[in-house]
Amino acid sequence: MDLHLSGKVFLVTGASVGIGAAVVRVLEDEGATAVGVARKPQRTADIAADVTDIGAAGLVVDEVLHRHGRLDGLVNNAGGVEPRTGFLAVTDEDWLSSFDLNLHSVVRFSRAALPALLRTGGAIVHVASEAARFPDYPLVDYAAAKTAVLSVSKSLSAEFAPRGVRSNVVSPGPTRTWLWDRPGGFAEKLAERFDLPVEAAVEHFVRDVRGLPTGRLGTADEVAGVIAYLLSPSAAQVTGAEWAIDGGALRQL
Ligand SMILES: NC(=O)c1ccc[n+]([C@@H]2O[C@H](COP(=O)([O-])OP(=O)(O)OC[C@H]3O[C@@H](n4cnc5c(N)ncnc54)[C@H](OP(=O)(O)O)[C@@H]3O)[C@@H](O)[C@H]2O)c1
Repeated sequence: MDLHLSGKVFLVTGASVGIGAAVVRVLEDEGATAVGVARKPQRTADIAADVTDIGAAGLVVDEVLHRHGRLDGLVNNAGGVEPRTGFLAVTDEDWLSSFDLNLHSVVRFSRAALPALLRTGGAIVHVASEAARFPDYPLVDYAAAKTAVLSVSKSLSAEFAPRGVRSNVVSPGPTRTWLWDRPGGFAEKLAERFDLPVEAAVEHFVRDVRGLPTGRLGTADEVAGVIAYLLSPSAAQVTGAEWAIDGGALRQL
């Protein structure tokens, strides 16, 4: 499907691996230019920046405009989670660092990008999480920050859609990325929790614990495909929306 993204320029945060890297690849396959950001640069993220640094957003947007002269879309993807043992173990510093990464970076990159997006009639997609609507104590600070992202996206849509800039959210469910497979990541944590080999633990989680209707974890490419669609002119009437990509995990109406 041609998404009519050829010649457009996109900025993707957290793009060295996982969902962000997949977004860069799908946008490039569509003929667009995608500029990625991460702390450790890779092919899909050649701007080195920490999105929690207060000045990073402005510097990164300036660099994109210097290189390409325009900006047609922003993907606020950088995020991360530290599993907690319980609310009482989460310190002020933990809350601040979680909100800096998962919420304040979204605010700062949106603020920095909007003047350029208003010139092109661009779009923003924020990557939240199923945790925003399914909070639980091991994710207490992460879930709260992601819920706030849903709110910010709606406010941005209300203010800027009348001026041509759309704002939407994608909410992935369990998606197999580096977050899962890194040393000490979710997959190893599940293996410890269920006292099973890693793959058996993941299978048990998917089928018995979460009961995911699709019977498997999602992939980064599946999330990236929806993000590319939401950035495209085909989604011109979609704004202030939240799209779940979670294998049918959340079933509330
Ligand atoms: N995978 C899942 O199951 C899942 C489920 C729901 C929601 N999500 C959300 O989806 C988004 C992407 O997750 P993922 O699974 O693709 O994660 P991932 O595989 O851990 O990748 C995270 C990316 O963000 C970058 N990053 C992390 N901290 C950063 C910082 N302070 N400054 C700049 N870049 C930073 C990382 O690169 P560097 O380390 O080099 O900086 C990496 O490129 C996140 O917002 C996450 O909360 C994921």
